[in-house]
Amino acid sequence: MSLPELTICNLKSSLPIIQGGMGVRISLAPLAAAVANEGGIGLIAASGVHPPELAEHIRKAKELTDGIVGINIMVAVREFKELILTAIQEKIDLIVAGAGFSRDIFQLGKEHNVPIVPIVSSDRVARLAEKFGASAVIVEGKEAGGHLGTDRPLFSILPEIIKAVQIPVIAAGGILKGSDIVKALFMGAKGVQMGTRFAASEESSAAPAWKEEYVKAKAEDVVLIKSPVGLPGQALNTSFVRDLFANKVPAFKDIKRCVACLKHCKKDFCIIEALENAQQGNIEKGLIFCGERVGEIKDILSVKEIIANLIKEFKESVANGGREWKEG
Ligand SMILES: Cc1cc2nc3c(=O)[nH]c(=O)nc-3n(C[C@H](O)[C@H](O)[C@H](O)COP(=O)(O)O)c2cc1C
Repeated sequence: MSLPELTICNLKSSLPIIQGGMGVRISLAPLAAAVANEGGIGLIAASGVHPPELAEHIRKAKELTDGIVGINIMVAVREFKELILTAIQEKIDLIVAGAGFSRDIFQLGKEHNVPIVPIVSSDRVARLAEKFGASAVIVEGKEAGGHLGTDRPLFSILPEIIKAVQIPVIAAGGILKGSDIVKALFMGAKGVQMGTRFAASEESSAAPAWKEEYVKAKAEDVVLIKSPVGLPGQALNTSFVRDLFANKVPAFKDIKRCVACLKHCKKDFCIIEALENAQQGNIEKGLIFCGERVGEIKDILSVKEIIANLIKEFKESVANGGREWKEG
C-alpha cells in the first residue's frame, strides 16, 4: 500500500504530508517548495514578517515549484489581515491559521476561493471551524513544536475530532516516522502535518548552529516556556530559556524597540527578537522552538531524503500490520 492522496477542497496533493509553517523565518520558500516538489504541501511561515517580505517569499516559492504552497499565520499576529490579503493577492493555494481562532478569515477565504485550515486542539473548536467554513482542520497535540493549545497527546484528541466533523482531519504533533503516519491514517486522519523533522532539513532557513542544536538535543532538553503570546511554547532548553526561568531576562520595557508584532503581548520578553536571534545563529540569546521528539533526530537531511524515508517506513509498517506503533 502506498501513501494515499490528500484532498482539501480543490487541492489534491499526491502525499498526505503537510510541512508545518515554522516561524520566525524557519520555513520559507526553499523548504516549502522542496516539500511541494516531492508531492506534499509546503507552508511558508508568515508570522513575524511584514507583507512585502511575505509576497517575496511566495513569489520565490512559486518560481521553485508548481506544487501546492500555502502560508501559516498565527491569529495572534497584529498584521494578520494584511498578511492574509497579501498571500491571497499572490495566489497562495491555502491558508493555515494557528495560535488562536479567527472568524474573519473564513469570509476572506470564501470571497477569494482559498481553502482555510485552522489548527485546533479540541472537538468544540473543530466543530466551530467547520460551521464557519473551514476546508479541513489540523489537530495539534501536546507533542508539537511552538505554541500549544492543549496538554493532551495527539492520539488521545484525534478520535474525538474525527468523530466531531465531516471535513478532512490532519494530525500534527510528534509525527516523525512512516509508522506514525500509518497510525494517524489508520485512526481516520486524512493526512499529517510535520514540523520538527522538516526544521532539521537542508532546506530549512534556520542557521547551521540552530540545526546543530536539534541534532545535539536529548529528550530531556525539551521544555515549556510561557510565551508573551499567552500560550505555552515548546522549546529547547537554551541558555536564553535558562535565563528566562531564572528571571534573568529583563522584561521587555524598552518600548522604542517594540514593533508591536502581536495583537496582545504580555511583554515578559520580546519573542520575535528571541526567535530571530536563534534563526540567525545567536543561540545564546535565542529561542528555539521544537517538538517533543526532537531528541530522536540524529541528522540533517534533504527534504528528498526525509520523504523517501517516510515512504519506506510507511510501506514497512503497513506490511507489518502496524506492529511498531501497536507495540508502542
Ligand atoms: C521551530 C518551529 C516553529 C513553529 N512555528 C509555528 C508558527 O509560526 N505557527 C504555527 O501555527 N505553528 C508553528 N509551529 C508548529 C508546526 O507548524 C507543527 O504543527 C508542529 O511542529 C507539528 O509537530 P512536530 O514538530 O512534532 O512535527 C512551529 C514548530 C516548530 C518546530
